[in-house]
Amino acid sequence: MLSVTNLKAAYGKIEALHGISFHVERGEIVTLIGSNGAGKSTTLKALMRLKPPESPIVTDGDILFNGESILNTEAHNVVGKLRMTLVPEGRQIFGNLTVLENLTLASWSNPGDSRRDLDHVCGIFPRLAERMKQRSDTLSGGEQQMLAVGRALMSKCSELLLDEPTMGLAALLMYEMFRTLKKLNEEGLTIVVVEQNARLALNMADRGYVLDTGEIVAEGTGADLLRSPEIKAAYLGGA
Ligand SMILES: Nc1ncnc2c1ncn2[C@@H]1O[C@H](COP(=O)(O)OP(=O)(O)OP(=O)(O)O)[C@@H](O)[C@H]1O
Ligand SMILES: [Mg+2]
Repeated sequence: MLSVTNLKAAYGKIEALHGISFHVERGEIVTLIGSNGAGKSTTLKALMRLKPPESPIVTDGDILFNGESILNTEAHNVVGKLRMTLVPEGRQIFGNLTVLENLTLASWSNPGDSRRDLDHVCGIFPRLAERMKQRSDTLSGGEQQMLAVGRALMSKCSELLLDEPTMGLAALLMYEMFRTLKKLNEEGLTIVVVEQNARLALNMADRGYVLDTGEIVAEGTGADLLRSPEIKAAYLGGA
């Protein structure tokens, strides 16, 4: 479904991705792991076709979506036509708007029945349903993350990219978030998740890729990567 070949991407003159290749099949959960600055967020932003200066310019290689290059596709069409949506690093919800307003705004790209989608999101995150009229900046960190994912679901995406969805969450909420993602995946959503908690991500994912300073240095099934001595030593605290 998604096929990235020899992708190079740069911020100005600084190359952040040095020719990475990976693929994501429909219905999979794929995780990208790697240390700070490895290029994980850069990869997701390139996939979404977001523009500089926050996002990189692709200088070489290709991104194919169902076999067709999307290098010239605008970000709003990535969301609206390809139905691929990003939950960005740091959530980026509108703090001065209510939960309901954040969710409703996100249905711009959704030609369908947004009332039904709202009910779907409330079913997944009952905690949001109780807080529809609350200003979003007064939500707890965990609730804000639920809102960020809920907002993405309002765009009726079939592929969801998530950048560090468990950032700042207590362990219990981390597991809850991953259980929710697994459930959404079982309902048919394809998921690409960037995660600092490599063990958690590899446990959930069908396959994973390890990024290191702009290159993919390992790939395999979640189970294989969890067993690899090199991955254990470098990313799983040696255990
Ligand atoms: N807007 C930007 N302008 C210039 N350089 C950037 C920009 N964003 C990221 N970079 C650089 O690109 C490289 C990859 O950064 P990226 O944010 O993709 O890493 P990451 O793997 O997501 O790291 P982290 O785990 O810390 O979020 C880094 O060297 C970073 O300094
Ligand atoms: Mg990042």
